Amino acid sequence: MTTTPAPESPLSTAHQISPSLIATLPGNYYTDPEIFRQESEHLFESMWFCAVRSADLDKPGAFRTVQIGRENVIINRTRKGELRAFLNICRHRGARLCMEESGEVKRSLQCPYHAWTYDLDGKLVAAPNLIKMPDVDRVEYGLIKVHLREWLGYAWVCLADEPPSFEDAVMYAAVERLGDPAAIEQYGTENLALGKRIVYDVKANWKLIVENFMECYHCATIHPELTDVLPEFADGYAAQYYVGHGAEFGEEIKGFTVDGSEGFAKLPSVSDDQDRRYYAITVKPTVFINLVPDHVIMHRMFPMAEDRTIVECDWLYAPEVVESGADVSKSVELFHRVNEQDFEACERTQPAMASRAYRKGGVLVPNEHHIGIFHEWLLEKLGGSHAGPVH
Ligand code: FES
Ligand SMILES: [Fe+2]
Repeated sequence: MTTTPAPESPLSTAHQISPSLIATLPGNYYTDPEIFRQESEHLFESMWFCAVRSADLDKPGAFRTVQIGRENVIINRTRKGELRAFLNICRHRGARLCMEESGEVKRSLQCPYHAWTYDLDGKLVAAPNLIKMPDVDRVEYGLIKVHLREWLGYAWVCLADEPPSFEDAVMYAAVERLGDPAAIEQYGTENLALGKRIVYDVKANWKLIVENFMECYHCATIHPELTDVLPEFADGYAAQYYVGHGAEFGEEIKGFTVDGSEGFAKLPSVSDDQDRRYYAITVKPTVFINLVPDHVIMHRMFPMAEDRTIVECDWLYAPEVVESGADVSKSVELFHRVNEQDFEACERTQPAMASRAYRKGGVLVPNEHHIGIFHEWLLEKLGGSHAGPVH
């Protein structure tokens, strides 16, 4: 890999190519393991990261492990019913405590190597010969805690010693997009039930997925079902970028479903002006939220490598819809198709990032210029240490 010592931003030099075109990031930003490492350090391991749906950990002892940057984190529910997050690493000699992605323990987490045992609050409670070592402090040698906040029914964790303000860094994204702090609360997301979860293993850099989500220039080409439901998307108009604007359902459309057929009753607190509208919110770096009158779609990305991203997508409905066993397949199918269409486009793009054709990157048309703001945000987060473009 070639790294240029000069911390010059590739956008400040080649940002505006012509009145219509501005430059994207150079291709190496999507392929270079060193840049991915820097993103892990400065974004995924420093910012709030939406890790797990709280209700998935439905009883004491239930746990889930997730990869966040270079760290593996275990999130579990304690005997008191609270959620806790720890680095998934034994304090003795560093063995990974839980290899499973999810599971349930009775009262404690035991390391499979020498059997150091921790309670669900992370305290060291047992180890072979521990009573013969009275000087070992069981809290000090407990699991290393990770900050955790719950919002919208999800556990958001932060690996930083001093996390950024959750209100400013996470909740503000929704306010900024919807223009009203109460607007997202009206969907009551934390009280909704899981109707469907689909996990996508996407062979593309996480930024290609963010960029795709931020623009609608591609909607007319690859999303026939979505543009049928939201006709204004056919113009490539990035409706999701304008504050407070929700894309309106087409006149003939009865619900946010794959064929425009009837959905379910509007969620109880959704207001009349939110009815028959679709809102999309990006919570950088890894979360997309879609709001429609009768359900909420939460996307959580897990960047695994510079060319691989796992996306976990939850379709959330009023509890009575899920409990009644109602058929949610038509509403799931709409965004599942959108996801497949989008991820296929991202996978189609990824190989080009390593091509000489993309050494200096591509271009953004006016409908996509706001993606440049995301690029500038990224470069600022990576600071002066980021690798420069390879020419
Ligand atoms: S590494 Fe876990 S008990 Fe030894
Ligand atoms: Fe799309």
